[in-house]
Amino acid sequence: MTQNPALQRTPRDIPPRTARASCSHSQVRERCCKAPQDAERAGSYAGWMSADSTPPDEGARGPERQPLSNLGGPTVVAGEPELAATLAGAMKTDGETREVLTHGFHSYPARMHWYTAREVLQKLCPAGGTVLDPFCGSGTVLIEARVAGLGSVGGDLSPLATQLARIKSVYAPAPARERILESAAHVMEASLERVRARAPAHARVPPDVARLYGPHVLKELAGLREEITRVQPEGDQDTLWMVFSSLLTKFSNQRADSSSEEVERRIRKGLVSEFFLRKTRELCERWSRLEPECTGPPPKLLCSDARDLHRRLPGRTRIDMILCSPPYGGTYDYSEHHRLRFAWLGLPLSGMQRHEIGARRNAQGPESARRWHDELGETLESMRRCLHPGAMAVLLMGDGELDGRRIPADIQVEELAADTGFEPAAIASQSRPDRRGAADRKEHLMALRAR
Ligand SMILES: C[S@@+](CC[C@H](N)C(=O)[O-])C[C@H]1O[C@@H](n2cnc3c(N)ncnc32)[C@H](O)[C@@H]1O
Repeated sequence: MTQNPALQRTPRDIPPRTARASCSHSQVRERCCKAPQDAERAGSYAGWMSADSTPPDEGARGPERQPLSNLGGPTVVAGEPELAATLAGAMKTDGETREVLTHGFHSYPARMHWYTAREVLQKLCPAGGTVLDPFCGSGTVLIEARVAGLGSVGGDLSPLATQLARIKSVYAPAPARERILESAAHVMEASLERVRARAPAHARVPPDVARLYGPHVLKELAGLREEITRVQPEGDQDTLWMVFSSLLTKFSNQRADSSSEEVERRIRKGLVSEFFLRKTRELCERWSRLEPECTGPPPKLLCSDARDLHRRLPGRTRIDMILCSPPYGGTYDYSEHHRLRFAWLGLPLSGMQRHEIGARRNAQGPESARRWHDELGETLESMRRCLHPGAMAVLLMGDGELDGRRIPADIQVEELAADTGFEPAAIASQSRPDRRGAADRKEHLMALRAR
């Protein structure tokens, strides 16, 4: 890490944010500016150390420093010792390769590991409290909140995310599962009949999406879609749309949601329809495992910009904790990754394109780091307004990469915390290999306490 000159540039290089950034965190800034060597040697942890914190080197020798074979690297901790140990434990996901409950039903870029969500909620959220995830994505935190007996509110800018999070966290009871399975079987039969009869079907997706499918796959998907619109009661269609969504990358020539690489896939006629029923069955089985585990109520879901969430929460909602994984600066392009699904599902993409934060498409140019700093600052400000004093926000974030420079997320969050009414309380970090061969990045689980 220290060998990469890009790492010399941290958020401290970014001019202070407008009105708010009159720099109450001058100590951090001073330390970083005066002694860059020291800041690096400390692995950028110095700011997270309260008087009674565990120095990273000591923590590294202690029980927290477990090698994580699947994720690569030891865990380094700082801050309040007990809290830091809990965070380190929550990052220890190597023993949990199973995809339990509804978690693995649908792919989603940068999904939080369910074990991390489970550990944080069970160990840190007050019993019977309510947790907010302003970046709920596919709903990992919301599912685990139900399992922990907690209330939950999930927000996301993406309407696909909020629909998916609902389907994954709100199971249909047994009679509804039977009905949905029957409908899926009818949809499959009707779709196979269309394939046999070579019936015409119009895909109604833009040419750049259509070209990602083989001609017969495109036609079969179009036929399936038409059959889903006939399902009654209409409410069951919401479930079947998410089943349909789960097929869309798998049967395209796109390697994965977060990759634009194209691969050739040989897909026989009828397979898409058969998979549709198979995935509906899988969802129903997952729901039947989720049902007895749920002791908390279904989540409230809001399709909202995280920076506005404090204004969108229903009046008098008391939030006892925030747990979330915001976008990592300059790493993903959620609107791009879901373009194909939005097109097939008829969802509006413009909101995502305009308001997504940390998007890779905005990660070039001298202003990009500043922009990301402001986006994250506004997000923390809104989070702080959702919490009462003393409540905790736990953030899982990886280091950003803006305009070719690494932005260590721990330093960035620490600086912004001071401006937005939070105290950094504890942190646990692990290294992640960079797929393009650059220096490792770090992923951090950070606990902030609302002042
Ligand atoms: C790291 S993912 C969250 C994954 C989630 N924890 C899960 O387990 O599936 C980040 C999420 O941030 C959302 N997002 C991006 N910009 C946003 C914004 N301005 N407001 C709310 N959500 C946003 C993306 O749609 C994406 O779902």
